[in-house]
Amino acid sequence: MATPSHGLPFAPLRALLIALPLLSLLLLLPHHLLPSRHTPSPSTPPPLTPSLAVHAPLRAAIHRAAKAGGPSSSPATKKTTLSHVVFGVASSRRTLPLRLPLLRLWLRPPARAFLFLDGPPSAAHPSPLPPNLHLRVSRDASRFPYSHPRGLPSAVRVARIASDLLLDLKQGQGNSPPPRWLVLADDDTAFVLPNLLHTLAKYDWREPWYLGARSESAAQNTWHGFAMAYGGGGVAVSWPLAARLARVLDSCLLRYPHLYGSDARIYACLAELGVELTHEPGFHQIDLHGDISGLLRAHPLAPLVSLHHLDHVYPLYPGMDRAKAVEHFFRAANADPARILQQTVCYDQSRSLTASVAWGYSVQVFRGNVLLPDLLAVQKTFVPWKRGRNVTDVFMFNTKHYPRDECKRAALFFLKSISSGEGKTESNYSRQLPRKCLPRLIPLRNLHQIKVTSDLLHLVPGKALRRHCCDIIPSPEITMDINIRKCKDNELIVMHS
Ligand SMILES: *[C@@H]1O[C@H](CO)[C@@H](O)[C@H](O)[C@H]1NC(C)=O
Ligand SMILES: *[C@@H]1O[C@H](CO)[C@@H](O)[C@H](O)[C@H]1NC(C)=O
Repeated sequence: MATPSHGLPFAPLRALLIALPLLSLLLLLPHHLLPSRHTPSPSTPPPLTPSLAVHAPLRAAIHRAAKAGGPSSSPATKKTTLSHVVFGVASSRRTLPLRLPLLRLWLRPPARAFLFLDGPPSAAHPSPLPPNLHLRVSRDASRFPYSHPRGLPSAVRVARIASDLLLDLKQGQGNSPPPRWLVLADDDTAFVLPNLLHTLAKYDWREPWYLGARSESAAQNTWHGFAMAYGGGGVAVSWPLAARLARVLDSCLLRYPHLYGSDARIYACLAELGVELTHEPGFHQIDLHGDISGLLRAHPLAPLVSLHHLDHVYPLYPGMDRAKAVEHFFRAANADPARILQQTVCYDQSRSLTASVAWGYSVQVFRGNVLLPDLLAVQKTFVPWKRGRNVTDVFMFNTKHYPRDECKRAALFFLKSISSGEGKTESNYSRQLPRKCLPRLIPLRNLHQIKVTSDLLHLVPGKALRRHCCDIIPSPEITMDINIRKCKDNELIVMHS
């Protein structure tokens, strides 16, 4: 949200969208799109601690739960599920049709999303919408001042999704349980839902939590702030805090016309409520351009929660269009969500090789002994978000030079296929040969495929994260087999001699 998407449409998607039938959407839209039908009622603010006595939808939900025989006596302490998570997604009439395929890919019931548009959508996009995706038109925000010289006034409308959505849900929520988390995002944000849920579950939703991540770009953080969660990566707010925020947001918006984005406005208002950001490194704003594979190959141990700006960077896998590449990525993410992108490093002492696996995505094989910290640094394969002479190329993590000379790079592999079952996965990665390197100079020229086997990764709340180990299993020269496993207690990730 700090960096409004300029909607470079991806051409193959557009073709697909045009080809899809428009009719059912026309049938579906009208009753979703009664703009501004609710009047704010500031005199009856949502209580900070959900009060069972006064909240009718909540009472109804508890009643239903009781009838269903659930442990309804303590609904607040029952395990948080995706049915407790509500997404407020910033969209627009223009970008909606471009982003629906991505939303369909990640937004699985029982998670629900409300997409807020700047006006009733034109009919020219496909349907039907999934039942857990609701279109809304933002309430008119034109009375709020906006004075940032370079931003877009729509930042105010987008910030108000936090209050528009709570107002909307006050009118009743159908069969869904009362929400525990509000997650704000852009329509070009993709979430790995099980990992989002795991991340939220680390926190007591009844407390005022504000979770998210900064931009990758030090320059962006310098311009917009280091203390806020960047909206495109996703901003998670516990429900009682969201209720408080919704109540005071309009008054905050009047004080901050000079800020750039919606996320800076949310931050300012939460700061006034005395709440600070808790940094969760699984959220990704992706204020980068070009090839982000270097970033994705060195993900932190925290599970991958979100990716943003995927239509501003190269397709995730080379040789595929963006839409196909994201689908491919989610095939792996769905097979073992906790492990997607998790980096594991192992060594083959006899052949003097170092292998670095970003599970479900890419494997690199280096000649010789590359020490672990050098592999945990992010290869600078990308270019800064802002181009121009006065742009600093500084990021919020350790980086490592990525050789321009393709002959000097590691042997590179990308996910080709994956299968899973009985608590295990097998994923194959095929070689991406350099294009600008004479055959005799290509490192490990004969190595064509890597097979990686692993058990499903189970994240346990409260347990510390520890990188896994792996073994390179002896195999013929053209393939490499890697097995990922838990490290032994005192095991080091090094080349043994
Ligand atoms: C570069 O950016 C800095 C800080 O924003 C500014 O003070 C300086 O004038 C800029 N230099 C050029 C050449 O634009
Ligand atoms: C991976 O490759 C091996 C060897 O070619 C093959 O036997 C196996 O079926 C492949 N696995 C998947 C998931 O494609």
